[in-house]
Amino acid sequence: MAPLIPQPTDTMRHLTPRVIVAELDKYIIGQDKAKRAVAIAIRNRWRRQQLPPELRDEVTPKNIIMIGPTGVGKTEIARRLAQLVKAPFLKVEASKFTEVGYVGRDVESMIRDLTEIAVNHVNAEEMLSVQAKAAEHAEERLLDLLLPERPGPPTDRDDEAVGDRLEEGDDATEQQYARARERFRRLLRDGKLDDRSIEVTLEERGMPTVEVFTNAGIEQMGFDFQNMFERMMPSRTVARRMTVAEARDVLTQQEAENLIDRDKVRAIALERVQSAGMIFLDELDKIAVVNRKGAGPDVSREGVQRDLLPIVEGSTVVTRHGMVRTDHILFIAAGAFHAAKPSDLIPELQGRFPIRVELDSLGEAEFVRILTEPENALTRQYAALLETESVALDFTPDAIDAIAAVAATINQRTQNIGARRLHTVMEKLVEDISFDAPDMPKRRVTIDADMVHATLKDIVEDEDLSRYIL
Ligand SMILES: Nc1ncnc2c1ncn2[C@@H]1O[C@H](COP(=O)(O)OP(=O)(O)OP(=O)(O)O)[C@@H](O)[C@H]1O
Ligand SMILES: [Mg+2]
Repeated sequence: MAPLIPQPTDTMRHLTPRVIVAELDKYIIGQDKAKRAVAIAIRNRWRRQQLPPELRDEVTPKNIIMIGPTGVGKTEIARRLAQLVKAPFLKVEASKFTEVGYVGRDVESMIRDLTEIAVNHVNAEEMLSVQAKAAEHAEERLLDLLLPERPGPPTDRDDEAVGDRLEEGDDATEQQYARARERFRRLLRDGKLDDRSIEVTLEERGMPTVEVFTNAGIEQMGFDFQNMFERMMPSRTVARRMTVAEARDVLTQQEAENLIDRDKVRAIALERVQSAGMIFLDELDKIAVVNRKGAGPDVSREGVQRDLLPIVEGSTVVTRHGMVRTDHILFIAAGAFHAAKPSDLIPELQGRFPIRVELDSLGEAEFVRILTEPENALTRQYAALLETESVALDFTPDAIDAIAAVAATINQRTQNIGARRLHTVMEKLVEDISFDAPDMPKRRVTIDADMVHATLKDIVEDEDLSRYIL
């Protein structure tokens, strides 16, 4: 059967592995192996979509484990990737399912959350696509509100004998009314009526208490209780006074909602989750069991792995929007895997993550690049922040080298927290400038190596101090 539902594959066509890596390069320094692996995985999903249906179902995603110490870009890669491909994307900590209060099937909630994200996404897209029409409808409703009663059609009570004469009169008033309406329309479009206050009758449906019913237990029954209750509740109408400008927004929103076909939204969203959904499973190492003899928390860790298994392997999860097959959802897992190794995961789960990529720990040379190259580089962020105070902040190249060296030294001496160290070092470095900026007579600050040393020297030299401050 040909796919009836439009899919975002057209936008995917130009996202070749090379293009994906180039996009990731804009934000993440190094980590080429990880970038390549995710780029291939994403491309393979598009390739799968191009296959004939019989074959398409056979190709399962090659899930990935990103292995690397803290602060080297694992989460960042996943986050940027999701933005790039615009696929339904969810980030979840595997360890959260071992917490008290999470039991058994709750692992399935990640699929429900992902579906919710997709539905919201598609809904927003649809809202956008009916925006023009909704605006037209809203305008008519505004005109209804602004203009005095439209003359009604002749009613049954009208005497046959006077009917003719009345109709003529009606024609005239009707025309007059139409002219007035067009006049108002022009004023409205020119924004001349924006500040005028009018009363808008709004429907308010659904009660907050309904939320209680959307908990997992009932949701597993595959029934959209919230929606059902919303429909059952008598819709209350409330009259609210607002300006024409506000009313235009409110009514457009309302009309857009009325124009949207909810079943279509669901169908598209479900299809998207199933064929393009992506789940970033962080801290996978925290649910690995190093010592199998142990009891206590290990039991729940292994339990979570077992619960994950069917979802990763492919099963059907019931959500309030419908059934979701998880076979083709891509899982990207991440973890430091210091104590535990991927081989400490239960074998079935290991098998479902065939691709392992290691991320490199970052050193001074990478720090120099991280400080300057990415579009969101820290030095740019601070400069932009201070620019709002009309202070021009810049860094000399030897200052950058010095900051990178300080960060690398402290990572070595205390704990290696990767690029996150740059945040603490930079914050300390610009602290005084940040504080004084609004009142500084000088409108330009250039940070050079001497200044970096002068500001950070005492802290760097005192190991105890740097443990606390940087
Ligand atoms: N290779 C890199 N290039 C540019 N910035 C990076 C890089 N690695 C980390 N960063 C920056 O460091 C911060 C932390 O990175 P990220 O959240 O990706 O770490 P992580 O690898 O997920 O660590 P954890 O294991 O603690 O979750 C982010 O602000 C990110 O922008
Ligand atoms: Mg992370």
